[in-house]
Amino acid sequence: MTRKVLVTGGAGFIGSAVCRHLVGAGVNVLNVDALTYAGNLKSLSTIDNAPNYRFARIDICDRRAIAEALEGFAPDQVIHLAAESHVDRSITGSDAFIQTNIVGTFSMLEAARAYWLARPPGRRDEFRFLHVSTDEVYGSLGGEGLFIETTPYDPSSPYSASKAASDHLVSAWARTYGFPAVISNCSNNYGPYHFPEKLIPLVVLNAVHEKPLPVYGAGANVRDWLYVEDHARALDLIVQRGRVGEKYNVGGRNERRNIDVVRRICAILDRLRPIGRPHEQLITFVADRPGHDLRYAIDASKLERELGWRAVETFESGIEKTVGWYLDNEWWWRPLREKVYAGERLGVLSQGTQQSAKPAGATAAAGGTRK
Ligand SMILES: NC(=O)c1ccc[n+]([C@@H]2O[C@H](COP(=O)([O-])OP(=O)(O)OC[C@H]3O[C@@H](n4cnc5c(N)ncnc54)[C@H](O)[C@@H]3O)[C@@H](O)[C@H]2O)c1
Repeated sequence: MTRKVLVTGGAGFIGSAVCRHLVGAGVNVLNVDALTYAGNLKSLSTIDNAPNYRFARIDICDRRAIAEALEGFAPDQVIHLAAESHVDRSITGSDAFIQTNIVGTFSMLEAARAYWLARPPGRRDEFRFLHVSTDEVYGSLGGEGLFIETTPYDPSSPYSASKAASDHLVSAWARTYGFPAVISNCSNNYGPYHFPEKLIPLVVLNAVHEKPLPVYGAGANVRDWLYVEDHARALDLIVQRGRVGEKYNVGGRNERRNIDVVRRICAILDRLRPIGRPHEQLITFVADRPGHDLRYAIDASKLERELGWRAVETFESGIEKTVGWYLDNEWWWRPLREKVYAGERLGVLSQGTQQSAKPAGATAAAGGTRK
């Protein structure tokens, strides 16, 4: 029988990659998404006519609607990605993060638990609920070391705190009710269809428009970059073969300082879209983000050892593909830049409340350096 997967947040950056991957593999997919500013059905244009793909506009906090979707579609697995995901937005407005990431996950857990209990015993054992989370729940690393699955939680931002809370709910549902949940914690993703408020698309698009390329602080913050399609493959493996009640870290072993990521994009654009001077001249250092974690780095060896997963893309191959995709797919990003997000800085606190802020090198348009 064809596998059926209900994906939440499938109109977002990673969720759309998961839907494209699953539909391409012949899996029956129901994509459930509320279509917030971050949801974009155009990211699904390559699959939206496929017979094994369906979309339903539902807010995950609406437990009754989620319950109906579960009963109607009768999935074998749920991959739960729907979330508010941008740290900068969480700094200036955390309500939606608490609501969707915590209350929404609670709603998903309760609806899915009732659905799971109502399944015939044979089918009940097969059911899986994969909760997709972030490495940001672990807080910040110093210069050395890696996050492992047992690293204590120490979130710094309203975003990461809300994801940490949701992870704890999922773990508790697995322990208390025997609910067949698995959690994944992944590092920074990048790739096609990434909303232009995030570092890599923001830098590419600002560079294309010869606008300042904002870098927080001195650009020394280190992130461990993973190409989004590698993440989608990892999630498919974890939901099929991950052990119930376990956590799996997902990361690409691609640590880079933010400034080096920006310089790399500039070098690619100098070659693919020359403007008569190095794009690096557009780099502008701006006041740091409050509570900005210094370094994240993932040890993915449990996932590699138990499930045989490996990242296919290196940072060099993935970033080349990503920059090329943005240059070739203006139809996707132009409406977003014009109507939804034009590149303005988000997450700035009023003076006197900002932590660890450095004097701004510039006040020009700036954007996030994180998920
Ligand atoms: N982007 C990263 O680098 C990264 C890394 C690790 C983990 N994650 C996690 O992966 C998941 C997806 O991240 P993303 O970058 O694709 O996010 P995204 O912001 O691009 O997409 C989120 C999607 O969720 C939908 N959504 C938001 N609130 C909803 C609600 N109440 N009901 C239904 N749908 C709702 C949005 O419409 C959007 O389509 C998140 O849970 C995030 O915490 C992201």
